[in-house]
Amino acid sequence: MCGIVGYVGFREASEVILDGLKRLEYRGYDSAGIAVKVNGHLEVVKKAGKLQVLADSLKEHNLSGQFGVGHTRWATHGAPTDPNAHPHTTEKGDIVVIHNGIIENYLPLKEGLIARGHTFTSETDSEVLAHLIEEKYRGDLVEAVRLALAEAYGAYALVVAHQDHEEIVVARTVSPLVIGLGEGENFVASDVPALLPYTRRVIFLHDGDMAVVTREGVKVTDLAGNPVEREVVTVEWSLEAAEKGGHPHYMLKEIYEQPRVLENTLGGRLHEEEAGVELGLKLDPTHYDKVHIVACGTAYYAAWVGKYLLEALARVPVEIDVASEYRYRDPVVDDKTLAICISQSGETIDTLEAIREAKRKGAGTLGVINAKGSSITREVDDTLYIHAGPEIGVASTKAYIAMLAAMAMLAVWMGRARGSLDEKTAREFLGEMRKLPRLVEEALELRPQVAHIAEKYHQAQDYLFLGRHIQAPTAYEGALKLKEISYIHAEAYPAGEMKHGPIALIDERLPVVVLATQSPFYEKTVSNIQEVRARGGRVIAVATEGDTEVKKFAQDVIYVPQTHHLLAPVVSVVPLQLLAYETAVFLGRDVDQPRNLAKSVTVE
Ligand code: F6R
Repeated sequence: MCGIVGYVGFREASEVILDGLKRLEYRGYDSAGIAVKVNGHLEVVKKAGKLQVLADSLKEHNLSGQFGVGHTRWATHGAPTDPNAHPHTTEKGDIVVIHNGIIENYLPLKEGLIARGHTFTSETDSEVLAHLIEEKYRGDLVEAVRLALAEAYGAYALVVAHQDHEEIVVARTVSPLVIGLGEGENFVASDVPALLPYTRRVIFLHDGDMAVVTREGVKVTDLAGNPVEREVVTVEWSLEAAEKGGHPHYMLKEIYEQPRVLENTLGGRLHEEEAGVELGLKLDPTHYDKVHIVACGTAYYAAWVGKYLLEALARVPVEIDVASEYRYRDPVVDDKTLAICISQSGETIDTLEAIREAKRKGAGTLGVINAKGSSITREVDDTLYIHAGPEIGVASTKAYIAMLAAMAMLAVWMGRARGSLDEKTAREFLGEMRKLPRLVEEALELRPQVAHIAEKYHQAQDYLFLGRHIQAPTAYEGALKLKEISYIHAEAYPAGEMKHGPIALIDERLPVVVLATQSPFYEKTVSNIQEVRARGGRVIAVATEGDTEVKKFAQDVIYVPQTHHLLAPVVSVVPLQLLAYETAVFLGRDVDQPRNLAKSVTVE
């Protein structure tokens, strides 16, 4: 959360920074600010509101210069106001600081600084860093930053500039920072999309790294100033992949990308002839007698689907946990535990801490991750990349589908190695997996019908989503998507649980989405639909093509293509993503930047 861009080179810094911040706005969008060196001074402009407010205000300022830094904020300490926006500076104004993360001891630091005569203009924890660095500065900015960081602790991606030095001094612990390498210019950013128009050669900083970025080059050290070697990575993501490509919203573009994403996730990994998958993992799947999966939000629902897949195909006991709960529940873990974490960004702090907890306790660790080079990938024993490409829409769609495909492959990998999945069943299952891109393509054709349903119910106050077995997580994911971008209250329940309480909510105003695709539990779900209908609820059923039963009881039936029942979540989630999207559009919501959210949650 929070987006940072820094530039030193020969272009107009304000243009590079605004363009980069635009690509990072998914990380936070409640205020934005920029500092550019103009005629020897760092000029700061910062505004509450979305980046456009800053961009409009910049038209009234001459910020022409080739060295600067900028920020788009997701508020933690202090409301989204002009003074709380970054960059922060001091009365002298010669130093600017941009910070992503939380300085945990900022209160005692602030008290000390006030007692020593410093005046604060914001309520943020970040401003203490500007004052602390000013206090330590004796002509050497790098040294001042190092001394300040020796006193401040917490999570940070820190970017500091001083008007007398054309260098950007950066440091990171927990919050991500990446350096982009150019010719006669260099860049700093929170995430790769900001750099793609200019370079694909990047250095991902590690926890405890500092770096000095100038026009001529980049020097990486540890916090004590000892040089450290960091690999220069060439990123494969194209610029087009990180742009809207003619769609009105990133979310819609990403929904439509899903067939291609699945091809990438599965590409070269399914081997029907050998009745197995080739995942290139070092871990030995036969070594473990239980699996723990941790994740947050949408990725947690992928974990839940993964549990059903692993238990069905690999016959291994699986526990799943919301990462923020796992790390504090003192889980029972030993060296026979395989701990899997799932994350699109690879930066979610709760997920990172949960996997660290499992590792500390002796588990083998595996990340199912989208973002290459991200923090989690550096801490786990092994990574299975989901290859979804850059996901910019704050509401996750294509990464979810790719996570499901990855979990299905892991289940085959473990099942074959453990001998619980026979060759014939594996071959058939892999054959079904291979069809998924085409089936998702077909599911996308449901958009006009789903748009019609969205219009019909867009004024509903509440929605209920029900699903059974491996479709229970699909119900939860459908409800989460709707909540996130339309702000309609939506609850999800395992279908069989409805009669234990939520049934009291049902009346003729409540749309109830029921996942009723073909499965061994289909009849039970149809009974649940009848229970809803008997109480006047409005049923929107998601059923398998060719089903003639469900339409007797449901007002609307969305028919999705037939697949193996363990793969049904992959095709069934598509109309639910579209339902959330179309509802949000009817309600005039900001689909790509829903209120209060940020894409990459790097604070606890
Ligand atoms: C929902 C959403 C969030 C994320 C969650 C985990 O649409 O995007 O719930 O799924 O914050 O993020 P990652 O996968 O980056 O760890």
